[in-house]
Amino acid sequence: MQHNVLILDFGSQYTQLIARRVRELNIFCEIFPYNHFPTDLSDYKAVILSGSPFSVRSEDAPHPDLSQIRGKLPLLAVCYGAQYLAHFSGGEVAPSNIREYGRANLSYIKVNEPFFEKVNAHSQVWMSHSDTIKSLPENGVRLASTNDVENAAYRIEGEQTYAIQFHPEVYHSTDGKQMLENFLVNIAQVPQNFTPNAFVDEMVAELKEKLQNDKVVLGLSGGVDSTVAAVLLHQAIGKNLYCIFVNNGLLRKNEFENVLDQYKHMGLNVKGVDASGRFLSELAGVSDPETKRKIIGRVFIEVFDDEAHQIEDVKWLAQGTIYPDVIESVSVKGPSATIKSHHNVGGLPDYMKLSIVEPLRMLFKDEVRRVGATLGIDASLLGRHPFPGPGLSIRILGDITLEKVRILQEVDALFIEGLKSFGLYDKVWQAGAILLPVNSVGVMGDERTYEKVVALRAVESTDGMTADWVHLPYDFLMKISNEIINKVKGVNRVVYDISSKPPATIEWE
Ligand code: XMP
Repeated sequence: MQHNVLILDFGSQYTQLIARRVRELNIFCEIFPYNHFPTDLSDYKAVILSGSPFSVRSEDAPHPDLSQIRGKLPLLAVCYGAQYLAHFSGGEVAPSNIREYGRANLSYIKVNEPFFEKVNAHSQVWMSHSDTIKSLPENGVRLASTNDVENAAYRIEGEQTYAIQFHPEVYHSTDGKQMLENFLVNIAQVPQNFTPNAFVDEMVAELKEKLQNDKVVLGLSGGVDSTVAAVLLHQAIGKNLYCIFVNNGLLRKNEFENVLDQYKHMGLNVKGVDASGRFLSELAGVSDPETKRKIIGRVFIEVFDDEAHQIEDVKWLAQGTIYPDVIESVSVKGPSATIKSHHNVGGLPDYMKLSIVEPLRMLFKDEVRRVGATLGIDASLLGRHPFPGPGLSIRILGDITLEKVRILQEVDALFIEGLKSFGLYDKVWQAGAILLPVNSVGVMGDERTYEKVVALRAVESTDGMTADWVHLPYDFLMKISNEIINKVKGVNRVVYDISSKPPATIEWE
């Protein structure tokens, strides 16, 4: 990939959002920690400094080395970045005595400034800082103010350096994207050539060059990322891509057969391995969620390893890693603390001695979907809800038996089919059913029953980090609940989970 825009991260919660807005302009950008970025910047056309939770006045505040950047490349400094430039170049930054948080409106914009072209006179901007710039740095020219923030935006005379105290990347800054476009396209003249088509062409060429006639093995999961990675690689190296799709016995009803079939129709060289018996026998009697995850992770590696060894001379392992995982592992804060062990599955053990190829490592999830669409992958595959690696094992609370898997698969299938037939599936980010480890009393005909309870869960989210429960229509819930109780033997009660994340999580285990 060509390097176009460098974003230096000072640890702001919004840094990824800056990258997403830049990418929405069809401009390629990369995020690096402020203290660890490439020394050779000759391929970059502009730099953006992010915000930060730090105050520039505190001792442990980030101090980037901008000697290769300032005055040499067009520079946009956001929030902390703007205060940093002011504080260390002859200006003054001090604690603000009013609250500079939330929505504000510009009350002054300097005329004839390219940075503010097509920006509305009283444009709304999003502020989020406790310090404020009291006086501008040397050669600073004020460009905009709000009623409370005099130096909301400035530039440095004689340089292509711009600084803003508000956050253009947040949607509440209604002209934020316009300002980013003004800076990147009009001022820095960065080309807008990062499109899904261009990505596919470039990546396929890069993979051909890198992999030559080597054999590559890839584990398919049925999810969007591994599928798109496989199709890209298939375009580049054809039959030298060996895909392995493992049935761990914890997939959705008929998922293994259906998805395998879809993969074969796509022309992929894929081997389906049914290891469900092995997974279920290793999981027998295990109730602890983390132990379940560890067992599944280990058995998956063993099964995959056995299969991969049967491919003679395989050199590469392909993975569907995407950009948020990459940023997370090199972020200013370092990899975040492990909350659930399976979230950071780290590939295969060292002894496999395979080199890693990750064709999607520069893409955000929505970009992966767009690339997938460009590659002609079916919308039904690209629009699938996320599904956890350990599958139904973490939705069967307590120990796992074949019978419990069967019950949950039936319930889950009715729920998901119902969402589809009511036109609700695409409005929900993720949905599934949970088998609870309790029995409840019911009546059926003249008989008293004492059977299982299932919970239904449907959430809205953008990335799984936070989530709200979906207000599914009562009519729908009524129909699904009846259907489940009538059709699935062993279940006599259905409940709906109305908890948001945080404090709850999406999965129950
Ligand atoms: P939580 O339950 O943490 O889930 O709110 C957030 C997202 O992550 C998925 N998830 C997992 N995915 N292995 C996975 O591959 C796991 O162990 C795992 N646990 C949760 C969950 O389905 C949701 O999309």
